[in-house]
Order: sequence, then C-alpha cells, then structure tokens
Amino acid sequence: MIFVTGGAGFIGSNFVHHWLGRTDEPVVVLDALTYAGNPENLSSLASDPRLQFVKGDLNDRTLLDGLLSRHRPRAVVHFAAETHVDRSIRGPDAFLQANVLGTFHLLEAVRADWGRRPAPEQAAFRFLHVSTDEVYGSLAPDAPAFTEDSPFAPNSPYAASKAASDHWVRAYGRTYGLPVLVSHCSNNYGPYQFPEKLIPLVIHHALEGAPLPLYGDGGQIRDWLYVEDHCHALVRILEAGRGGETYNVGGGCERTNREVVESLCRILDRMRPRPRGSHAEGIVEVPDRPGHDRRYAIDAGKIRRELGWEPRESFESGIEKTVGWYLGHPGWVDHVVRGAYRDWIRLQYGPEGPAAPG
Ligand code: NAD
Ligand code: TYD
Repeated sequence: MIFVTGGAGFIGSNFVHHWLGRTDEPVVVLDALTYAGNPENLSSLASDPRLQFVKGDLNDRTLLDGLLSRHRPRAVVHFAAETHVDRSIRGPDAFLQANVLGTFHLLEAVRADWGRRPAPEQAAFRFLHVSTDEVYGSLAPDAPAFTEDSPFAPNSPYAASKAASDHWVRAYGRTYGLPVLVSHCSNNYGPYQFPEKLIPLVIHHALEGAPLPLYGDGGQIRDWLYVEDHCHALVRILEAGRGGETYNVGGGCERTNREVVESLCRILDRMRPRPRGSHAEGIVEVPDRPGHDRRYAIDAGKIRRELGWEPRESFESGIEKTVGWYLGHPGWVDHVVRGAYRDWIRLQYGPEGPAAPG
C-alpha cells in the first residue's frame, strides 16, 4: 500500500481518486483537516475498503510511528502543507510548523521505519515530496523557464517553507540513503480546489455576482497545470523516477492572471450568463500582494524525456472542465464557503469583500 499525506486537500484528494481509479493497491491517507482539508473530497470513496482515512497531524510523531509500522507502505507521497501564499504573508508561523517541522517529523518517522526493513524493501521504497515551482522565485519576461538546475530564490514565506522542506528531503536522501524523489510543479487547477485560490475564487464570485479581484495590474504570469495531469506525472515519478532525482512538472500554459480571469468570464458567459452584460464587467483591480512574483514557467523537458510524461489537457480544455465541475457541484461549493472561507475573504479583501467595479 501507499501512504498519502494531505489526501483530503485539493491535489491530494485528486491523487487518491486517480490512484484508486487505476489500481487496487490500497491507500492510507493522513490529513489534519485544517481549513483546506475537506473529507467531502473523498466522500465518494467512503465505503471503499481500499481507502483508510486517518485524521492527524504530521507533527504527531507517535501517530506517524504507529501508522508506518502497522501499514508498512512501499511509498509515501507527501502533499500535506499549508499552501496559500497570501495566508503565509499574514501568518507565516503556521507554514514553518506544517511545512518545515511537519516534513522533518515525517522524514524522521519514515527513516526509522525504513531503517528496520530488509534491504530489498529498502531499495524499492520511495518517498515522494510534492513541491512547487515557487521555490525558484520570479522569472523576467523573456527568461528561460525553470529547470531542475535553477537556483532556489523563494520570495514568500510559503515558498521559503517549501524550499526548506525540499532541502531536508534532499539531505535525507544524501545522508541516510532514503530513496527520495522531489517534484516541482506549477499552479494546479481543477476539481476540489479551495475557493480562496484564483480560479475557484473567480468562478464562485462570478456566480454570486461579487467583484472579481485582480491583484495589481493583473499582468503576473503563471504556468497552469490541470490537476489530473499532475497526478499522472506523480504516478510516473513513483513508477520510474530515479531515486534522489528532482522532476519539474508544468502544463506549458503560461497565462497572465487577467487572461485567466477573462477566459473564465467568457466560459461563464456561455454556461451561466448574467441577466445583463458580461461577467468580465465584475473585474476589479485590488492592491497587489507584497513581494508578488511576476512570472513562473516550468521546463518539463526532463520528465518528458525520461518518463514519457506529457500533459493531456490544454489550458482551454482544462479550464472548461473545471468550470463545468464547479457548476455541477453547488453543494460542495456551498459547504466549503462557510466558516473559515468567509473569515478569510473579510480579512484579505475588507469587511465588504472587494469593492465593486466603477
Ligand atoms: P491544500 O491546501 O488544498 O491541501 C493541503 C492539505 O494538507 C489539507 O488537506 C490540509 O488539511 C493538510 N495539512 C496541512 N497541514 C497539515 C499537517 N500539519 N498535518 C497533516 N495534514 C496537514 O494544498 P494543495 O493545493 O492540494 O497542495 C498539495 C501540495 O502540493 C502542497 O505540498 C503544495 O505545496 C504543493 N503544490 C501545490 C500547488 C497548487 O497549485 N495547488 C502547486 C505546486 C505545489
Ligand atoms: P493563487 O491561486 O493564490 O496561487 P499562487 O499565489 O500560488 O500562484 O494566485 C494565482 C495568481 O493570481 C497569483 O499571481 C495571485 C493572483 N490572484 C489575484 O490576482 N487575485 C486573487 O484574488 C487571488 C487569490 C490571486
């Protein structure tokens, strides 16, 4: 079986669905169910005997030790983290706790368990650490995309915490011989993404008739990756990645934030038109994020060449599917936008939310 941390979050839950859709190998999920973790993301698998869900924290070493010795996973896929850049600016402490210390405690528990196994099992074991392109910092408009050799230059507390955890994972590979793999992916989008991130936030706001906030001039560029393509890449890395290696995963879909929001508006104008005018009339520029990275882009040449991975979705096909998913799951959206979500929107965009255009 495999052990998945953060499996109730956005990418983790997509990964669990993807995994169990292609194999009967069981999965144990460990997730603390923070505001971003949602058991509903896995509810369609609730009675599936191949999935075991454990609510718990990465920093609970006793729990980790018990789970690893009981289940003896052949691989750990580590998604669990605090992930929202804006939250990391307002409260960096949680990022240090979850991303740096949490990864450290997980590595320590895995190292102890792995160290007791016979040599063939040790050799076959994999620890896959899911990281981000944000550790490489910001690219100039014409600079080549990030490769696995790009230097680390994290600019937000989130990126710094992920970079720190990447270094810890690498060190455990080098020092203790733990068979580690690290992936750096670009911005994901798709089903089950918590609507404080750009794409689901804009879909939700548009449907509510609320303003669509663009930070600064909206000219920042991200390289969008459909989450299912990311899951497929992670499976390939687990199957065939060389121990100790790093793989960059990107969708090859660079878009400015304004282009992303305008694409969403065009699709919504067709699928869920406003009584009058276009959804794009709701776009408002709001104050920029401090230290906002201007551009990310991934060179996915290594995973393409070595593991034969290619993204299957274009930005246009992926974004269409994504809007369709959110429109088809009003109950899911309804549940997640209560509580923690509302508190965050008030904190980030002001008590009334972003001001209406004009
Ligand atoms: P997410 O915020 O949707 O989910 C994170 C999950 O981790 C949640 O279910 C949460 O409850 C859990 N978690 C947080 N702290 C925990 C702790 N201390 N112990 C146990 N569980 C804990 O995040 P996501 O977007 O699914 O991202 C998953 C991973 O992928 C992260 O490591 C992130 O850095 C990386 N990543 C994400 C993106 C993206 O675009 N979303 C891009 C690059 C890399
Ligand atoms: P986000 O989804 O938070 O991902 P990340 O910061 O990890 O790239 O944001 C994606 C881009 O969208 C980023 O450049 C910030 C921008 N953004 C807005 O313009 N408005 C918003 O309301 C949000 C949440 C993000």
